[in-house]
Amino acid sequence: MSGLLEKIVSIQNSALQAFNQAANSQDLEKARVEFLGTKGRLTELTRSVGTLPAEERPQAGQAANEALKTTKAAHQKALERIAETKSQKAALDVTLPGRRRPVGRQHLISRTMTEICEIFERLGFTVVEGPEVETDYYNFEALNFPADHPSRDMQETLFVGNKLLLRTHTSPVQIRTMEKRRPPVWIVAPGKTYRRDDDITHSPMFHQVEGLVVDKGITMADLKGILSAFATSFFSPDTAIRLRPSFFPFTEPSAEVDIACVLCGGRGCRLCKGSGWLELLGSGMVDPALYKFVGYDPREVSGFAFGLGVDRAAMLKYGLSNIRHLYEGDLRFLEQF
Ligand code: DAH
Repeated sequence: MSGLLEKIVSIQNSALQAFNQAANSQDLEKARVEFLGTKGRLTELTRSVGTLPAEERPQAGQAANEALKTTKAAHQKALERIAETKSQKAALDVTLPGRRRPVGRQHLISRTMTEICEIFERLGFTVVEGPEVETDYYNFEALNFPADHPSRDMQETLFVGNKLLLRTHTSPVQIRTMEKRRPPVWIVAPGKTYRRDDDITHSPMFHQVEGLVVDKGITMADLKGILSAFATSFFSPDTAIRLRPSFFPFTEPSAEVDIACVLCGGRGCRLCKGSGWLELLGSGMVDPALYKFVGYDPREVSGFAFGLGVDRAAMLKYGLSNIRHLYEGDLRFLEQF
């Protein structure tokens, strides 16, 4: 009897050793057949318990069953170990093609802003920038908006402190530039602007490119020539523009510049509401009142200025129906540009 128990333990130990040492599925299968197969050593031994005298059977049976259980568990463990090594090897397969990471791109607004600035740079302008948090002085006062004057209502403002506000337009950069430079000045100033506006064509944060030219003998013909060159370069070579009388405190005279409708070419459609024209930007001849704030002599120089909505220009150029598409960060939209 004790001989049989010892045999069970010794076969079990050999089985465990063989399973632990198996380096691959073939080795493991060979070891399984040797110990647990229908004619395996442990299987036969278990079977032989039945031939023992009745009083020895329970103890021997229990020992054999335990050995079977332990050995089968060890086999299962070995199976898992080998499967894992296999998948680790697969993960390290250096011959697999590399995984492509999605490459980002410039946002449509940044691209449009760059494109606009590049057109003006080719026309002789330099790019400058100004702060988004601006003082009342630069945003309004030095641009000829008197305190408490109703013209300020055109641009409802987000104040962040006493006489400190989020700029409502890029026009303050005109003053900041003229304070620092003497004519000739040919600059464009791109950047973010803020207003209390929110509908399908307005967002509380939006973008403008400001333009300012102050030089000797500048006339409204220069304004029209430069803006026409811009429109044909940015939209299409046959884009017509027209000037419409308007009002801005810092220009005199002032003009809205329209482009021929990008959809119907001027015949009249839903986009241009039948007029054939789309409003593009505000402009005008620099009001000599501004020169007093910066120490320029209006008898020596004259100039023109303009302010272009970048979001608006992008919407017109790419036919966007809602300004919000630009700010929702939805890749299905952004990837199209
Ligand atoms: N600052 C104006 C606005 O945001 C746009 C504008 C109009 C800018 C006329 C100019 C200009 O430089 O001359 O409504």
